[in-house]
Amino acid sequence: MRVGVLTGGGDCPGLNAVIRAIVRTGIVEHGFQFVGFRDGWRGPLEADTQPLDVQAVRGILPRGGTILGSSRTNPLADSAARDGISGLDRVRENLARLDVNALIAIGGEDTLGVANRLHQAGVKVVGVPKTIDNDLGATDYTFGFDTAVNIAMEAIDRLHTTAESHHRALIVEVMGRNAGWIALHAGMAGGANVILIPEHPFDIGEVCDYVQHRFETRYAPIVVVAEGAHAKTVPGPVAESQIDAFGHTRLGGVGQLLAEEIQRRTGKEARATVLGHIQRGGTPTAFDRVLATRFGIGAIRAVADGAFGTMVALRGTHIVRVPIADAVEELKLVPPERYSEAEVFFG
Ligand code: F6P
Repeated sequence: MRVGVLTGGGDCPGLNAVIRAIVRTGIVEHGFQFVGFRDGWRGPLEADTQPLDVQAVRGILPRGGTILGSSRTNPLADSAARDGISGLDRVRENLARLDVNALIAIGGEDTLGVANRLHQAGVKVVGVPKTIDNDLGATDYTFGFDTAVNIAMEAIDRLHTTAESHHRALIVEVMGRNAGWIALHAGMAGGANVILIPEHPFDIGEVCDYVQHRFETRYAPIVVVAEGAHAKTVPGPVAESQIDAFGHTRLGGVGQLLAEEIQRRTGKEARATVLGHIQRGGTPTAFDRVLATRFGIGAIRAVADGAFGTMVALRGTHIVRVPIADAVEELKLVPPERYSEAEVFFG
């Protein structure tokens, strides 16, 4: 069996741990061979490969990023067609030409959406869920999320001390396009005072009143805001005009807008910090290394069992197989009952 592996979408600490576990287990338990596809779906679309053997995965467990590279290339987009051949057919033809019998796609909603379409078209695919936002419905956790939360928590810890020295409100913008899991967990762990998430549009007046109240009790407030959060009066998140191949706009800027509005309404100095890709770079936590390794082992065993069209997932403490279709069906949002457990102001 020759198994292709690719990583698509935004990178996450733990991707290399998944690749390593797939390759090592596949070789030791099943005698499989591997082909690495470069830069997500661009690899199979353009037959761009790299060697993937024990030597290639040596020493990568603690390394962030992905040795295979990533992209948001979408083979289902019209632009992926060449000479009258659709992107999907190009992928199928290249897999056959390269003698790749099965494919493991490691990615989020978009990457797995393509994997699901390929499965429906008869390609032998197994999925591994990946998103820093932790918002894939079919799994309790995705790797990378714990690392991001720890990085954001450490940033909040550091911001507390400088905020208090200067009597400023500090706003921290974290990742979270549709779901506020990173903001919620980092905000709770870091003892933030206000958490603003996409699921719960905020009232800017109430946020400013609360910030004012914090200043009156002599504490400099820390506000954590997910990049996808927005005010009740504004229809959607703050976005730049760029749109990727899956139709997503690039988010960013809500932290700065909040800082300006808080300063204007309270008369207190307010500054924004955007953590951005710092949350996605660098070495994974122990939790993410373990989860990623278990996902990798689970995925190659699914290939060996012929369980195509499935994706590995964490349910409780168990690694299970679910249809890939489940992963792309519904996002896992922060449920309202979590607000009252957070001991912060939600806006
Ligand atoms: O989907 C994961 C994510 O990290 C989102 O939180 C964020 O909006 C997006 O990716 C950023 O992606 P990029 O690095 O491609 O701009």
